Amino acid sequence: MRKKERYLITFYGFIQLLASNPDNIVIGLVRDIKATQDHLKADGLSHVHVLKADITDGQSLRRAAGETREILGERGLDVLINNAAYVSDVTAVVSLRDLEQDPARLLQDTQKSFDVNVFGVYKTIHAFLPLVQQGELKKVVGISSGMGDIDFINAYDVAQAAPYALSKAAMSTLFAKFNAAYRRQGILFMTLCPGLVDTAATNTNTCAALSPSFSLRSPLTSTAVSDEDLARLQDIQKRFETAGLNTIPMKPIESAQRCLKAIHSSSLSSGHGGSFLSYNGTKEWAKKLE
Ligand SMILES: NC(=O)c1ccc[n+]([C@@H]2O[C@H](COP(=O)([O-])OP(=O)(O)OC[C@H]3O[C@@H](n4cnc5c(N)ncnc54)[C@H](OP(=O)(O)O)[C@@H]3O)[C@@H](O)[C@H]2O)c1
Repeated sequence: MRKKERYLITFYGFIQLLASNPDNIVIGLVRDIKATQDHLKADGLSHVHVLKADITDGQSLRRAAGETREILGERGLDVLINNAAYVSDVTAVVSLRDLEQDPARLLQDTQKSFDVNVFGVYKTIHAFLPLVQQGELKKVVGISSGMGDIDFINAYDVAQAAPYALSKAAMSTLFAKFNAAYRRQGILFMTLCPGLVDTAATNTNTCAALSPSFSLRSPLTSTAVSDEDLARLQDIQKRFETAGLNTIPMKPIESAQRCLKAIHSSSLSSGHGGSFLSYNGTKEWAKKLE
């Protein structure tokens, strides 16, 4: 009989997909247990262990790791997926030049992006690494973003969202460093970009102009997008479209399926240790969907 695979995921995205397969033991790490349980109930998913943790809070992570150990016993964890992130709406459409007069806004947003996307991810890995060491598949995955790839930034002059991009670039480097340190223990560390996905992060006023399917209102501010920001977005959308890049988001479940396929087919022996790739196995971050 096939052994059950044991996954721990920070935040909902992949939970829905993984929990629909009874062969998996799925543990979700979230900030709001009740909201997640309501979500799971609405999706008809009952076999998910939902634990509470804020990934910036080492103590809550250590407590969650202890609870995970109780659930899994000595069999450990097969795959740890670091998906939770701070996807800033504050600097999403502005460039360093737009922020010349407001460096504090840039620095504060960069600090917050690093607190969650780099230090929070580091703390999560640190808390759960002993369980991964006990597991069989031994895979630690970070959901990163092509926004943090300097070749992409240079090719299309993507001047926007510096704090988020910096944090994602640092996160991918963190995974490469973890990989260099732990590959001899047989643990694969890699980062994956999930493509453009229709989530709360993209369904904001700042991203609204990228696709007609997005709402023009922000769930964070409930304010309509300003004319200035709209013009900035339309400029980048035009450049992406001219370059033949995708600007239509995928459904979260579709992105999760593509990422999971990439996670299953990746291994240290096939050279994926420390890699930073799109779910499609390339560095074409915004490739049009086939
Ligand atoms: N959407 C895209 O097009 C896209 C593209 C490239 C990469 N990504 C990456 O994909 C991942 C998911 O993005 P998304 O679009 O789904 O973002 P999102 O809609 O902003 O959701 C982020 C999730 O992270 C959780 N989170 C934030 N801070 C946390 C903390 N301190 N502790 C625990 N959980 C925390 C949030 O939990 P709460 O529910 O408690 O707020 C939320 O559920 C991110 O890593 C993002 O960088 C997304």
